[in-house]
Amino acid sequence: MTVTITAARDVLKANDRGGYTVPTSRLYPFQWNWDSAFVALGWATFDEGRAWRELERLIEGQWEDGMLPHIIFHAPSDDYFPGPDVWGTHHHPATSGITQPPVLATSIRLLLENAKDTAEAEAHAAALYPRALALHRWWTEARDRQHSGLVAILHPWESGMDNSPAWDAAMVRVPATPTTPIRRRDISHVQADMRPSQADYERYITLVDLYRSLAWAPDRMWDATPFKVADLAINAILHRAETDLMALANRFGTPADHSAIALRLESQRTAIARLWSEEANLYQSLDLITGERIPVSTSGGLLPLFARIPTDDQAARMAAEIERWGGKVRYLVPSLSPFDPRFEPKRYWRGPVWAIVNRMINEGLSAYDHGALAARIREDTQTLMRQSGFAEYYDPTTGEGLGGGSFSWTAAMALSWAVP
Ligand code: GLC
Repeated sequence: MTVTITAARDVLKANDRGGYTVPTSRLYPFQWNWDSAFVALGWATFDEGRAWRELERLIEGQWEDGMLPHIIFHAPSDDYFPGPDVWGTHHHPATSGITQPPVLATSIRLLLENAKDTAEAEAHAAALYPRALALHRWWTEARDRQHSGLVAILHPWESGMDNSPAWDAAMVRVPATPTTPIRRRDISHVQADMRPSQADYERYITLVDLYRSLAWAPDRMWDATPFKVADLAINAILHRAETDLMALANRFGTPADHSAIALRLESQRTAIARLWSEEANLYQSLDLITGERIPVSTSGGLLPLFARIPTDDQAARMAAEIERWGGKVRYLVPSLSPFDPRFEPKRYWRGPVWAIVNRMINEGLSAYDHGALAARIREDTQTLMRQSGFAEYYDPTTGEGLGGGSFSWTAAMALSWAVP
């Protein structure tokens, strides 16, 4: 394990670009939102100051209304499409115009509670707290405009699970008519069959073109979009982050913050609980344009465990479902049920195993006393890393490492799992 720890630290150091960590060189040459929140947990195991810096550089990109963009373009690079000119957000530093799963408050809390240098940690956390608070307000105001308790994503990239089969039906309603010419760089770095398809990209960019034409105004985007989904995973991650924000509010917040967070916690919990599927034994997303449940079983549907939403009985049924998947693939947890006919073990979010998702599921299962299964997921992830390095994602049937190599959040999970 010593070798792995050294190697994992080396990945973070090699991907450090001066206070922020790129997910991997070339394929993703900027700072990504939820990557950095996880990567900070890796840095914290050997350099707490650097961990705080990661989050501080991330919030340099936060918009005035609280939105935290999914990419912060700190320094120019030709290796990525779509770059700042396509987004046209006119921010400094340049950023994309959409967000990603809000792991920030969870990361701040974990850094604070595990800190060895407590005085330094208190100061950093106190300064970051209002930014996380503003982010959570933004989610509710901009993305739960009907006060349902569920927030919506308006672009598949916001889910962080870009080409998940859960978005297929909703994406059919997005025209594949981008005005921006598509100049994909990803498939010059990574094999095309491990990445989203060309048709996916045309629709992704059509949405970007639409929102840019609306000057990224949340109300106009909400009204005009053909893609509006209450992504189960993002709602679960937000709810979990809200509990962490509450813990921070108890130390740094006002009574008014406290009551606003308590209200959100309550309405989120009730709304997410309704997304339980009796047939699938996990949770599923909701298409807010048709009003219909999306009957696709993804690893994201297990993340309510991380948010402590399920009852003990539901958690047991989720554990049994994971075991069932485990009978069909060699390594847990595939991003799509291997019983789904769309399961593709090498294509991105349509089958492969992702270390960060495993980390969240592992944590949730442990909290529900499914320790043996939690341990299997952790061991599978560590085996994958030992055998195939710190890959972006892994084939659950063969264990092959896929996508980008020397990947920051995979290395960070190795560190945060190995060092208590
Ligand atoms: C891909 C992933 C997303 C991640 C980004 C950078 O777009 O789908 O979740 O944040 O790469 O690693």
